[in-house]
Amino acid sequence: MRSLFFIFFVVSLSFGADFITKTEYAKMLYINPRGIGCISCHGKNAEGKVISKYKEKNRKTKQVEQKELISPRINNVSFERFKKALDEPKNIMPSYFLTDEETKILYDYTISLDKDGK
Ligand code: HEC
Repeated sequence: MRSLFFIFFVVSLSFGADFITKTEYAKMLYINPRGIGCISCHGKNAEGKVISKYKEKNRKTKQVEQKELISPRINNVSFERFKKALDEPKNIMPSYFLTDEETKILYDYTISLDKDGK
């Protein structure tokens, strides 16, 4: 039963690829890559947004301060910068294991979300 399901999965994968365009695939990657979706942190149009607000006590002043966790805008970055962020995540960004081809189409898609124009 399990192997039957696996065969079905592989067959649907290899056929499925022909039915969606690169843009559709990239959109899918943006919303739901293998991991948490870029969209949840970077926003619908990759414009960046406030991910969350939190309070933190300032050690020097002893005051409680309102802080924000912000994701940067990514619909206007260079390809080198985009690839680097995915290959070597810094703080908050999760690690993704995308192929070069996936990174490229995801990049083209993300840039196309810049509605303000350049
Ligand atoms: C959990 C939230 C989160 C998710 C999910 C996420 N990012 Fe990020 N991303 C960030 C934050 C925060 C930064 C700023 C650097 C840091 O703190 O890691 C960042 C930085 C970046 C940068 C660098 C921007 C610059 O100006 O150099 C790029 C490019 C990027 N993200 C693309 C993506 C893509 C593409 C995805 C999906 C595959 C994604 N991110 C998923 C939070 C996220």
